[in-house]
Amino acid sequence: MCGIVGYVGPQRATPLLVDGLKRLEYRGYDSAGVAVMNGKGVETRRAAGKIARLEQVIAEEPPLGTLGIAHTRWATHGPPTERNAHPHLSHDGTIALVHNGIIENYSALKQSLQARGYVFHSDTDTEVLANLIQEAFAGNLEAAVIEALRQVEGTYGIAVISSLDTEKIVAARKGSPLLIGLGDGEYFVASDASAILRHTRQVIYLDDGEVAVVARDGYRIVDLDAHAQDKPVTRIEWDLEHIEKGGYAHFMLKEIFEQPTTVSNTMRGRLILEEGFSKLGGLNMTREQLLSVDNVIITACGTSWHSALIGEMMIEELCRIPTEVEYASEFRYRNPIIGPNTLCIVISQSGETADTLAAMREAKRRGAHTLGLVNVVGSTIAREDHGGIYLHAGPEIGVASTKAFTSQVVALALFTLKLARLRDLSVERGRQIAQALADLPKQIQSILDRAPEIEALAEEFKRASNFLYLGRGYNFPAALEGALKLKEISYIHAEGYPAAEMKHGPIALIDEMMPVVFIAPHDAVFEKVVSNIQEVKARKGRIIAITTREEPSLKGQIDYEFRIPETVDLLTPVLASIPLQLLAYYIAVKRACNVDQPRNLAKSVTVE
Ligand code: G6P
Repeated sequence: MCGIVGYVGPQRATPLLVDGLKRLEYRGYDSAGVAVMNGKGVETRRAAGKIARLEQVIAEEPPLGTLGIAHTRWATHGPPTERNAHPHLSHDGTIALVHNGIIENYSALKQSLQARGYVFHSDTDTEVLANLIQEAFAGNLEAAVIEALRQVEGTYGIAVISSLDTEKIVAARKGSPLLIGLGDGEYFVASDASAILRHTRQVIYLDDGEVAVVARDGYRIVDLDAHAQDKPVTRIEWDLEHIEKGGYAHFMLKEIFEQPTTVSNTMRGRLILEEGFSKLGGLNMTREQLLSVDNVIITACGTSWHSALIGEMMIEELCRIPTEVEYASEFRYRNPIIGPNTLCIVISQSGETADTLAAMREAKRRGAHTLGLVNVVGSTIAREDHGGIYLHAGPEIGVASTKAFTSQVVALALFTLKLARLRDLSVERGRQIAQALADLPKQIQSILDRAPEIEALAEEFKRASNFLYLGRGYNFPAALEGALKLKEISYIHAEGYPAAEMKHGPIALIDEMMPVVFIAPHDAVFEKVVSNIQEVKARKGRIIAITTREEPSLKGQIDYEFRIPETVDLLTPVLASIPLQLLAYYIAVKRACNVDQPRNLAKSVTVE
């Protein structure tokens, strides 16, 4: 979603800001812009569309200066046009502002500003804030920003500059991630560390309600009452190469192929094979607390919600604890029942998804113990949860989540193993699951080695306009995830369904034009899935089946079969999802879609 970069230091700001924006492209955006202090005033350049377009505009007349702010916008209020692109200027042009988030009371504020003579030039909620800051300005930019922020409701990560207080960037955060980067004689503001990693590894994450003043000679962080805040400096441990394609055509393909490593990284130091147990240092729960969990709620969005469904089945099957999965956006407004022994697991790759964060805060407020399964170290969910399990999958840049999903399922399996073994699970069964986990990286690699087979399949089906994905048990969520991957990046309509439930609706769609992907490993529900395959075949559907063994009863029923290795039932979705990710990827490439930045989607959805 929207991205922010700011720079103050000895170098020319514009090229540095544009480079930072490029590092944020992966988050999803539809227009971009920069504002630079040129010695006399604030100069802006903005463009609808990709950053390449902004670069053309800049090349015509580059704004010169050593202090500036920049933005990639993902449209919420108003279409993605140049006039709605950030930075936005205040009425008199003295304030320039970039903003992530949503000002919820903007309409009322806009009307009253208009009544006071302020003229607006965009459809955005952001312009209101620029004008409020102008109105509050009395010589000091941070004081004006604080005054303006008192009047707004909603969420924001902002960076502001002014031609009347020229030596600083003022940044503030409420509900939208923001950090400052500490360089050598230079300072940065960014919504995501990848924007500034080329220049510094030392960052300070702002918390809600904090305002940072960043100047050439240093920085200060205050709260909304102007009280100074003492903040820790965090060192970013990952490298630039993690956010580069490393020879792959797309980030998504690179991330699919990284999975043998990322899945190992999720397990590293955590699996005790001999005891069939796992060690999870970050849970911050005593053995007694773990044993007294009465019920589990798992909340998440998107792909993370699919891994949550798998987690629910694991926990109920092996720990025998009632578990519920909720979309975070529904949970937060639903008056959920939470007792003192409710454990709330929050799953998020980014750790910044607005609804997931709000759901976690709501669960905390009601007294639940919260555990975050998060990939991005230092993200808001990771900082606010009671404890958690980092995925250690490394930066995920492709908008369509792949390696984070498999790591989430593995992290859920590690957690389930621990909790189940503390309860009733036998050592033998524990060992069997631990060994199956340890075997996953090699098994994933063996599937990836056969990627050309999936590529050929993609060629066969690239013109389809609909797809149905069917699975049962642990592989019903895998079907949902397979369908989501395809629709996200190829724009083919795809639906995931429990294989038997298909008879209550989607069966009406089946004819010789309808590809149906069955996820049919030899698991507890295999025989049932075989019947469902026959039902589809009887209606001439074209069947692609992900299987684990030769099955006589399926002879003549399947059009395309892809075998994956066998594993314990609960881990089959990890292996099944690899060919499904590849299928979506190759179909999208063959349809000439922008795989890494699909239209309208954002990597991290930081608005409700
Ligand atoms: C967006 C992304 C999805 C992701 C979802 C949840 O919709 O495009 O890939 O699954 O957000 O994100 P999270 O970071 O909370 O896992």
